[in-house]
Amino acid sequence: MLKRISTAVFAVLLAASGFLGGAQTVPPSSASYLSEQPVRARHGMVVSIHHLAADAGVSILSQGGNAVDAAVATGFALAVVYPGAGNLGGGGFLLLRTHDGKSTFIDFREAAPLAATANMYLDATGNVIPDSSVIGYRSIATPGSVAGLVYAEKKYGRLGLKRVTAPAIRLARQGFVLTEEEAKLLSDRDLARFPDSKRIFQRDGQLYKTGETFRQPELARTLERIAAKPDDLYRGAMARELVDALKSGGSLITLEDLARYRVVERAPVTGTFLNYTVLSAPPPSSGGIILLSALNMLEGYDLNSLGDRSPQSIHLVTEAFRRAYMDRGDYLGDPDFNTIPTAALISKQYAAAWRATIDPYRATTSATLARPPNFLPPPPANAGQYRDPVNTTHYSVVDKDGDAVAVTTTLNDSFGSRVTAGHLGFLLNDEMDDFAAKPGTANLYGLIQGPANAIAPLKRPLSTMTPTIVLEDGQLRFVLGSPGGSRIATTVANIFLSAAVGGLNIQQAVDAPRFHHQFLPDKLSVESGLPAATLDALRGMGYTLDQRDRWSNGECIEVDPKTGELLGGQDHRSLFGKAAGY
Ligand code: GLY
Repeated sequence: MLKRISTAVFAVLLAASGFLGGAQTVPPSSASYLSEQPVRARHGMVVSIHHLAADAGVSILSQGGNAVDAAVATGFALAVVYPGAGNLGGGGFLLLRTHDGKSTFIDFREAAPLAATANMYLDATGNVIPDSSVIGYRSIATPGSVAGLVYAEKKYGRLGLKRVTAPAIRLARQGFVLTEEEAKLLSDRDLARFPDSKRIFQRDGQLYKTGETFRQPELARTLERIAAKPDDLYRGAMARELVDALKSGGSLITLEDLARYRVVERAPVTGTFLNYTVLSAPPPSSGGIILLSALNMLEGYDLNSLGDRSPQSIHLVTEAFRRAYMDRGDYLGDPDFNTIPTAALISKQYAAAWRATIDPYRATTSATLARPPNFLPPPPANAGQYRDPVNTTHYSVVDKDGDAVAVTTTLNDSFGSRVTAGHLGFLLNDEMDDFAAKPGTANLYGLIQGPANAIAPLKRPLSTMTPTIVLEDGQLRFVLGSPGGSRIATTVANIFLSAAVGGLNIQQAVDAPRFHHQFLPDKLSVESGLPAATLDALRGMGYTLDQRDRWSNGECIEVDPKTGELLGGQDHRSLFGKAAGY
């Protein structure tokens, strides 16, 4: 039987501690997100950061496509209308659960080129060369997105590649009108460092303005070629064009890298939280393990009675995050290159032992945190943590049969390496930066990374992307995910906990201010919007706060358990997204 700590017990503990003066009840927030309502639909829904990509997906659903058709259409459309993170030159993960209860996880994560070496980003004295894994040709890993979307469509789609690429091709050729926010995004300074990127995304220096139409004829042609010959980018003429375009700048990617790239189907990681079943991302993402490990620890508390985003609840959730991220740094990496103790990491017994180390009224110090013994093998020497990259995008889909797809895809940073593949017209990732450039040593962001995630040829860098599908009593209940670098798993946890036990609808849960802890650096990141009294209470418990203006977008779907209606939560942090239903 789980021992749960309720509000009353907590209040007594807090008062006894003296940290909160014995009278600390922060009133429920009157924040504007609490008055929001989700978009409702009967038959199908696509939620994405870009309204045109969501529309592309839902048009495919209404033509009789299934959730995978819609997801593939949305993915290709995002590569056109959201070049900061939607992509052909990156990678990602697609989690599928069909209404008959089957599930699979399609891993199209980028892979290190064959010529990559563990020390490739170090100078002669062994120090990391600033930016070398972040900007430019050498930061590019072999892309997986086109292979992944083609694979998913062929194996699980219904309509075929020509039909699902049609909306993207139309958007690339005819163009679309830029909002102020999008025009500003395209003004990224580093894009101007690469001639093809400057030519395409910045009109050779005449930056696009609000209300102008952005057309990408070269990208339209590339998409048509993919639709006609799906393998061409990996083993045909387009592969040769891509390698030629990248070679000139010093990229390591060869024809052999492209020819050897493989999409991998894996079993999702699965666990339970109360009466929910959670399916999420296995390695090479850390996301699912972090999520399940934190939820396992939190199952021992009555978060609902503590109140959504009360200081007490934030404290307990933060301590669970801290512990889950400690394990991330020590044990996680590409499962094809490491033995990952997944079952132990997400076991209820291990979580109970971790929970016993949480002081209910005081922040733990990461530097002195000790892992419960006898559950896991000793971590490799020089193990550590991970930096905080910046952009990715997530979209969620449910079709009329109840099939659900959660896709998170990325170029890593915004616009990835900033390198465009010549006249193929698409940007390449800087996913090499998700590896540990120098295991065991703090990087530019103060984080240390472990040898499980050291660079090796053909290895996939560790991700935090967390596409997640949740069932309640066996029925589809939530489709969840978000961007946010190392904050992705905690963003998904924030959204899920608010919707599952915090009493918020999915729109409120997506828009509510978030908080994050990743073990190191030992700071509690909080998004603006939490009441000052909550922040004061957290400081009183011993937290150093890192206040941030804006988190990245979660794009999620909830199924109303009573009516079966689909409820879309499109993140209002951006102004051009959409929950599109029919
Ligand atoms: N590049 C972000 C992630 O994979 O987690």
